[in-house]
Amino acid sequence: MSEKIVKQITVLPGDGIGPEVTDQALRVLHTAGELFNVTFECQEFPFGGAAIDAWGEPISEELIESAKKSDAVLLGAVGGSKWDNQPKDKRPEAGLLGIRNALGLYTNLRPVKVYEPLCDSSTLKKEVIEKVDLLVVRELTGGIYFGKPRFIKTEGEEEHAVDTMDYRTSEIERIAVAAFEAAGKRNGNVCSVDKSNVLDTSRLWRKTVINVAKNYPDIELSHMLVDNCAMQLVRNPGQFDVIVTGNMFGDILSDEASMLTGSIGMLPSASIGNGPGLYEPVHGSAPDIAGSGKANPIAAIASVALLFRYSLNMNPAAKIIEEAIEEFLNKGFRTADIAGMDEEALNTVEVGDTITGLIKENANKLQEQD
Ligand code: IPM
Ligand code: MN
Repeated sequence: MSEKIVKQITVLPGDGIGPEVTDQALRVLHTAGELFNVTFECQEFPFGGAAIDAWGEPISEELIESAKKSDAVLLGAVGGSKWDNQPKDKRPEAGLLGIRNALGLYTNLRPVKVYEPLCDSSTLKKEVIEKVDLLVVRELTGGIYFGKPRFIKTEGEEEHAVDTMDYRTSEIERIAVAAFEAAGKRNGNVCSVDKSNVLDTSRLWRKTVINVAKNYPDIELSHMLVDNCAMQLVRNPGQFDVIVTGNMFGDILSDEASMLTGSIGMLPSASIGNGPGLYEPVHGSAPDIAGSGKANPIAAIASVALLFRYSLNMNPAAKIIEEAIEEFLNKGFRTADIAGMDEEALNTVEVGDTITGLIKENANKLQEQD
């Protein structure tokens, strides 16, 4: 028997459906870990709105310290109308931006893969989406989300607000490297998205990406303006392999791209820097369905697969989870967000039951083959 490995995970269930989907993601984490002799020690903190309710702030020093010391962070979702009237630095979203910043998570990976059995749940035609398998690489700690100055103030009769879009060469270089490296493991194509016909930050972006590309002669680089990219994503999304773009463009394009799959409830994400990575479903806290059992935990479960791949370097564990998700769908299991009119939907816990069951079954089959 090989020695047991222990890994530390900081768990931030957050708000709305966050805790429900995180519960199922944790079951999958432990199930897959066991198969590979890894035990997880999880430390949980209220985060976002839940933390505001608990101690008045969306994020705490103690939480950041724990996250920095852990091997990875697993996050559910934050936000809800309950906290809409909070001052801006005390909103749930400020917690999310705070942890991205504190951990230096400059690379956000959002894979968008259309599962064949779900082709009909998309609002787009099957022939447009059936081959979609793309990765949005979003810059996550710079750009207009963090640029200074930013303010809103009263000037005479009216108010005046400013946000600043700001990028430095070094920030663009490192995200470009992440995109080229990712493309090297995929289909070798990078499309860099900017607004260089108007913005100086985008001109610097394009120039820097072109420079970095010189170190990646095997990767094919193209450039696209963000408005055109928004259009191409619904016209012919199959053309994309890796899309690399700045913080705000990436935010918008990744939501758009998520709907190619039929439901945002299917999309995982990984945020990576030089320390522990953070893994979260792309969907938000969906307070309207919280507690109803309707939440689809697949995005959270798929985020656990990314955690194994990127933070623990355990690709076989990632694969066994991803294959179980695919098998789940191939066998006709559905959740409320992706069920057709006459299809029955499993509730959140039943999805966890089924996927952990499939993982164990497949692991047993593999062992019998050995
Ligand atoms: C996301 C979200 C966040 C963002 C919000 C909640 C701050 O939309 O992760 O895409 O804009 O980055
Ligand atoms: Mn977003």
